[in-house]
Amino acid sequence: MQLSPLQSRLAASFIASCLLLALYFTLFSPHFAVAAEPKETFPLFLDDADIHVDLAESSSRDKTYEPEFLAFDKSIIGRAAADGTETLTNKEAKSVEIGEGATKIFKFEIPGLPARETADRQFELRDVHPPPQERDIDGHVTERDIILDASEEAPELAKRQTSRTVFISANTCNQPMRVEGSKTTLDPPQLTLFVSKSPSNQSPGPSANLATQDIISFNDGAVMHSLSVSNQLYIGVYAPNVSAEFFGTYMFEVAVSTDDFVHSYSTEPEKNLIFVDSDSHGALLYTPSLTDSPDPEAQARAMSTRPFVMFAQNKDDRSINGLRFSYCGLKNYAQVAAIKNGQLTQMVTTAMTNRGPGNFPKQQFYFSGLNASSNYTGILARSGSSGSQVGSGGHVFRATEFKTKSETGNCAIIANLAFCDQVAYAVPSNPKFNTTQLGKFYDDYAATMYNNFNKSLQQIPCEAPSSQRYSLASNCTSCAAAYKEWLCSVTIPRCEDFSNQEPYLHIRAASYPFPNGTMLDAATLAAQKADHPYENISAFNSSRNPLIDEVIQPGPYKEVLPCEDLCYKLVQSCPSAMGFGCPQPGMAGFDSGYAHRAANGLTCNYQGSAHVKSSSVKPLLSWGIFSAALGSMSFVLL
Ligand SMILES: *[C@@H]1O[C@H](CO)[C@@H](O)[C@H](O)[C@H]1NC(C)=O
Ligand SMILES: *[C@@H]1O[C@H](CO)[C@@H](O)[C@H](O)[C@H]1NC(C)=O
Ligand SMILES: *[C@@H]1O[C@H](CO)[C@@H](O)[C@H](O)[C@H]1NC(C)=O
Ligand SMILES: *[C@@H]1O[C@H](CO)[C@@H](O)[C@H](O)[C@H]1NC(C)=O
Ligand SMILES: *[C@@H]1O[C@H](CO)[C@@H](O)[C@H](O)[C@H]1NC(C)=O
Ligand SMILES: *[C@@H]1O[C@H](CO)[C@@H](O)[C@H](O)[C@H]1NC(C)=O
Ligand SMILES: *[C@@H]1O[C@H](CO)[C@@H](O)[C@H](O)[C@H]1NC(C)=O
Ligand SMILES: *[C@@H]1O[C@H](CO)[C@@H](O)[C@H](O)[C@H]1NC(C)=O
Ligand SMILES: *[C@@H]1O[C@H](CO)[C@@H](O)[C@H](O)[C@H]1NC(C)=O
Repeated sequence: MQLSPLQSRLAASFIASCLLLALYFTLFSPHFAVAAEPKETFPLFLDDADIHVDLAESSSRDKTYEPEFLAFDKSIIGRAAADGTETLTNKEAKSVEIGEGATKIFKFEIPGLPARETADRQFELRDVHPPPQERDIDGHVTERDIILDASEEAPELAKRQTSRTVFISANTCNQPMRVEGSKTTLDPPQLTLFVSKSPSNQSPGPSANLATQDIISFNDGAVMHSLSVSNQLYIGVYAPNVSAEFFGTYMFEVAVSTDDFVHSYSTEPEKNLIFVDSDSHGALLYTPSLTDSPDPEAQARAMSTRPFVMFAQNKDDRSINGLRFSYCGLKNYAQVAAIKNGQLTQMVTTAMTNRGPGNFPKQQFYFSGLNASSNYTGILARSGSSGSQVGSGGHVFRATEFKTKSETGNCAIIANLAFCDQVAYAVPSNPKFNTTQLGKFYDDYAATMYNNFNKSLQQIPCEAPSSQRYSLASNCTSCAAAYKEWLCSVTIPRCEDFSNQEPYLHIRAASYPFPNGTMLDAATLAAQKADHPYENISAFNSSRNPLIDEVIQPGPYKEVLPCEDLCYKLVQSCPSAMGFGCPQPGMAGFDSGYAHRAANGLTCNYQGSAHVKSSSVKPLLSWGIFSAALGSMSFVLL
């Protein structure tokens, strides 16, 4: 191998230095040489590596540490050391930028713990309060820390200290970007959390002793980890090497709390947003009930709050991939946020409602300005707050998917009707009408029909003693309620795009032109007729209510038929003298009139219906972390 002049000069001076060192060590005491070794010799082998101040200390305590240290990748040591160790205080979120391959180390001291107590007293305490069980992300008990408690710490040390559960949470706020957005199908890799409570491992990270640390990978930009700790805790956040397809650094927030998580997320499907309905450019969603308390005062208090925000993202846009459980990540990357910089954005309106299952308070979101025929992800979150407290990092729920209807479609969302107050879905429409006019048309028609019914109901002896009433189980109140629910569902059809091919949908108004003037051509019409051999051609040719075709003129659309049980309930609740009857499945009129409820999905329409099985919805406030994280909020609501 040929050495350049520079290289040979370097080699010569290197050899000279070594000789000088050797001479130096032979002349002076070996004791001094050992003490000086970490500081003097490492730079020689690892050129610019600036050794972490804690390392020399821990390697003198723990003999197993040093060989591992030598096996380190030098870039990891170099950067981790350059960053230094930061101290975290209780409930304070710290924001840190980190480059690929680096590990950022934090230290946390349990606040308010007496340094020393007598051994007797400690034993007593430990008996009465066994260390809380560890929870991992999914709520499973992790046994790792319990084992570590027994093996890692010297028994006499454990006896002297009380342990306390600490809650570590972190969110990825920024992540490396794709160099070529459309070509890279990969998402940037997740950060990793390393946690050590062992004094022998004060720099937890990918190359520290695995037995002395917990390793938790971030889940979609967030991590939650709790463990019981005696006095101090060391945390390492490691940013992996990213491929050449990405550029930029990571930014994350980390916090440690002794009460509960500062950042949190939930993976339970029952807790996420409920998709109610969409039209071409808008979508309506609401939260599960905030409370299921029947107490009117509790409900009124819940109605006076507005605790949530919402994010929406076109599924074609991958900027939030890898950050779906991170509140600060969503704030930075989501396309549509209900609140940006503390302000409601133009695209979102939110309000409380008690529409829907149980008529319990819910927060609803209406998004406008969305793209037609697009798939979206909606993410519900409880907003973070300023200040250092439990929950201030925000809480993120699992994403809900929804899609908008087609551009040339003829369905529009109406809500907030005066009579049919439970209606909030897309109805057959025409661009000549705005939603106020549209809502008024459908609502007025239903109210008129109800008036006729109300007059008949006056003929029934409702207020009579039970012996003279038509039924023991029902009275006029329940009859009127059942009639209203049935009436609103039948006279205000729930609309879907004509192009939607779901088998439970019913074709309506096929012989009329679309709002843009085009008619279904004869071939399409014939094919549709052949595919849907409806017994009654006029139920295919026109709307159920001919007035819709005359006034609104929506043209061909598909209807989500009312649920058959609405009709059965009406017949059961009202006096037989009123003459209500329902078509039975298989009978003439059933297939064009009603549909069955399915276990999954929205296959028929009822008041308050949404794209969710109503029985699977749980009230939001009964959930442990949520109510604990809410703190003062749950006090207000319950
Ligand atoms: C990280 O990336 C750098 C540059 O791409 C490379 O030299 C190094 O070997 C990588 N380290 C690991 C641990 O993959
Ligand atoms: C709508 O589509 C355009 C073009 O594809 C895209 O740039 C924009 O971000 C989309 N907007 C929303 C809200 O999805
Ligand atoms: C939306 O998602 C469905 C599957 O759920 C898919 O068939 C459809 O092509 C998607 N549409 C768009 C515009 O991406
Ligand atoms: C009119 O609307 C229908 C229904 O969406 C669509 O299929 C058709 O292509 C549209 N015609 C024109 C000329 O835009
Ligand atoms: C809807 O149209 C009516 C009549 O043209 C008008 O008075 C009303 O202000 C419109 N409402 C909205 C919300 O645009
Ligand atoms: C039904 O009629 C009665 C008696 O005329 C009236 O008091 C009541 O308000 C009516 N109900 C509705 C919902 O219109
Ligand atoms: C009708 O029955 C319900 C219970 O089924 C009861 O709460 C209500 O007070 C009754 N209404 C009348 C007018 O009797
Ligand atoms: C249905 O529409 C077709 C085509 O417009 C028409 O020929 C037929 O008479 C209509 N049938 C009924 C029952 O309205
Ligand atoms: C067909 O449906 C129309 C209303 O959609 C109804 O008036 C007519 O009686 C039905 N005919 C039969 C035979 O069911």
